[in-house]
Amino acid sequence: LTIFRKDYIAPGFWVDTVEMGFDLDPIATHVATRMTMRRNHDSSEKNLVLFGETIKLLQLRMNGVNLKKSAYSIADGKLTILNAPDVVTLEIETVIAAGKNTSMSGLYVSNGNFFTQCEAEGFRKITYYPDRPDVMGTFTIMLRGDKKKYPVLLSNGNLIAEGDLGDGRHYATWEDPFKKPSYLFALVAGKLVCQEEKYKLKSGRKVLLQVWVEAGNLDKTQHAMDSLKNSIRWDEERFGLELDLDRFMIVATSDFNMGAMENKGLNIFNTKYVLANPSIATDVDYAGIESVVGHEYFHNWTGNRVTCRDWFQLSLKEGLTVFRDQEFSADLVGTETGRAVKRIEDVRVLRQVQFSEDAGPMAHPVRPDSFVEINNFYTVTIYEKGAEVVRMYYTLLGHDGFRKGMDLYFKRHDGQAVACDDFRAAMADSSGHDLAQFERWYSQAGTPRVKAETSYDADAKIYQITLSQTCPDTPGQSKKLPFHIPVAIGLLGADGKDLKLQLEGQTTTSNNTLVLELTAESQTFRFTGITQKPTPSILRNFSAPVVLEYAYTDEELGHLLANDSDPFNRWEAGQRLATRRLVKLTNAVQKGEELELDAMFIEALRATLNDTTLDPSFREVVLTLPSEAMIAEEFAVVDPQSIHTARQFVRASLAQHLKSDLLSAYENNLTPGKYSPDAVSAAKRGLKNVALAYLLAWPDDATFMLAKTQFDEAQNMTDRLAALSGLSNFSGSAKNTKAAAQSLQKFYKDFKNEALVIDKWFMLQASAYTCDVAKVRELMKHSAFTLSNPNRARSLIFNFCNANPARFHAADGSGYALWAELVIALNKLNPQVAARLARSLDRWKKYPQNLQAHMKAALQKVAETKKLSKDVLEVVSKALAS
Ligand code: ARG
Ligand code: ZN
Repeated sequence: LTIFRKDYIAPGFWVDTVEMGFDLDPIATHVATRMTMRRNHDSSEKNLVLFGETIKLLQLRMNGVNLKKSAYSIADGKLTILNAPDVVTLEIETVIAAGKNTSMSGLYVSNGNFFTQCEAEGFRKITYYPDRPDVMGTFTIMLRGDKKKYPVLLSNGNLIAEGDLGDGRHYATWEDPFKKPSYLFALVAGKLVCQEEKYKLKSGRKVLLQVWVEAGNLDKTQHAMDSLKNSIRWDEERFGLELDLDRFMIVATSDFNMGAMENKGLNIFNTKYVLANPSIATDVDYAGIESVVGHEYFHNWTGNRVTCRDWFQLSLKEGLTVFRDQEFSADLVGTETGRAVKRIEDVRVLRQVQFSEDAGPMAHPVRPDSFVEINNFYTVTIYEKGAEVVRMYYTLLGHDGFRKGMDLYFKRHDGQAVACDDFRAAMADSSGHDLAQFERWYSQAGTPRVKAETSYDADAKIYQITLSQTCPDTPGQSKKLPFHIPVAIGLLGADGKDLKLQLEGQTTTSNNTLVLELTAESQTFRFTGITQKPTPSILRNFSAPVVLEYAYTDEELGHLLANDSDPFNRWEAGQRLATRRLVKLTNAVQKGEELELDAMFIEALRATLNDTTLDPSFREVVLTLPSEAMIAEEFAVVDPQSIHTARQFVRASLAQHLKSDLLSAYENNLTPGKYSPDAVSAAKRGLKNVALAYLLAWPDDATFMLAKTQFDEAQNMTDRLAALSGLSNFSGSAKNTKAAAQSLQKFYKDFKNEALVIDKWFMLQASAYTCDVAKVRELMKHSAFTLSNPNRARSLIFNFCNANPARFHAADGSGYALWAELVIALNKLNPQVAARLARSLDRWKKYPQNLQAHMKAALQKVAETKKLSKDVLEVVSKALAS
């Protein structure tokens, strides 16, 4: 079942042109395909190989002649034609039961409309085809369908013809001028409406921009349109990359496995990343839309114009495009702190989700060596760690150096399907920087640990830092070789200011921050002219995806939190102070000891909270404690219940001691007037709502009323949801608890026609500590719940299994039993979604014996299920083998 990177063979045949005609019908869509192909003489594959799955083959003609059954074979999803001539025209007719396709891969129906999702291997569910990214052709598509049911007919590229067919049906013909791999093919057909605009590019050329949605949602498309225009402008300005089509379309569907898809000229999106207006979307939603619209748009160059040779190279496009969308969002905020807060948010996800993946049974390199099901490898490692790898080039080469590398990459590879090594070569050749060892970031899995040790020689005025690196074993990989790690460092004086840095033996001009290049297992760096013992600020702006170990004292961390010129490390110092306490308190909970929070920590947070020279968004992230999942990473054996208790204790203690400060922060950060999602207003709401959440952790009637009033009078979803979240986590007097429950009901009633808001309603309940397994089962019976819609399944089930650890890991194993039931149910409906849920038990070996036993039983139950998809099988068998 396993496919290996080392087995790559170039395709036996290339495709030049592809013409397809679709007769759209949910029961039986007929697809007629004609493609011209020619032999690749450089390949060792002599046969003509096409892939096909779940489709019925009606006709197969080669060079005008019907192929007899004996001329080809079909086995294991492959159609092989033996002895094909060097130049071939193939004509294929297939039938698809799109209406019955619940996998949301290939051609499927959602709410009566047709959509496609072809990445990674969905095109083979449409026709037999060399469905691999290194085979690129020029596509012309004719769509035919009922005029009333499918008034809108869309595909990639430009609309070249449309008209009536006379029999109640009509047609549209689309031509994509760029050759592309089949995974970028898309069609959309149905009842949709659009917001559109003519937009002028920097070059003066005008393009048509459209955002397509179901009727009734046109009041929710403005932000996506704005985000698209911002994306177009940003890519022109930052990378000199222009939109290459005359028309660019975004279409939203409520049934989608992932966030969105970059099909050439016809991006298809989950509604979650398109629809927004102040009454249904939060600030976080607005930011998510901006970044996903950007991400898909940026793929037009990094992914579409230059694509991947094979799926092992997936991070070539995904890591790079995530880096680009991160930079886009950071540039749009504009301020230095805004940038840093964006960086902090990205690093949080990396640490919480990717570091955990890297330490578990599904750990894999950024460029994997093997997989069973490629859909399982759209991971935080490929995406987020991949983006960190790209960011390290940026850190090593600098802003202009990186741009030169990008320019060379496009100059060399535009129109090609290439590998991660080609990107690295462009970065190396354009800069002259030796990046040979840097390759290990692609080939070795696992999160490196960098240990720092320092010493100061007052007489010689030399400050010395020794950095050593190790990397834990991962499945199939032991004995890692040293990585090439950029370690950005600064040294703070007693006054909190940066010292000028001069490396011994180097003539470069002195600087506040230096990027040290750690390439050996251990290396010592010496700074000269240091007149006082400094506090080191190491790994500034998180310059590499590693765990940094350094024996900071509380005083040093306090000094960094109060002064570091690098806002990332300033935040980091606060997180280190918090983590230390949370670990100690978790141990104390387990031992039944009395819990206490020290004044030093409380005062450090008070100072930050009250420092109005700091941006509210920065104060918000400093005030936010590491999540329960983050704290869990600190333990060899995880006890979710004790972690929860310890964290709640810290929240309540802070609330108690900082009550008046929190109340002032609340009052001082109100945003009266018309809602705007801009960074300044969003930051204020963020800080205000964090203050509110704290106040509710040490509640009295007045703070309860504050939340209740905010809920009742909110003018936007951000404030409404924040208040409701506080209320639904509320435990206090019976009267208040009842009022909280009523608010939850009112919210449902008010928004029952807004699917994305009902998702929030489920999500909020699923992740509240008040929600146990029985409560989830009760919510599953709610008329609004369904497993068939991925967003809805995620909102209740995934949130419970992933974001409510203290309840999911119930001692009796009932959480895991529920998990097994649902993985099995989803496996039948939608293997991709099932496999995502299956990952919730990845780290089962980290829990106490009694929980492990329950988890193992649940994993085995799933593994023994008949007709298990490759997707789920890969995940559970890797977990069980760990
Ligand atoms: N390329 C898409 C994106 O990153 C994601 C597609 C994922 N598809 C899948 N079947 N796993 O924007
Ligand atoms: Zn992507």
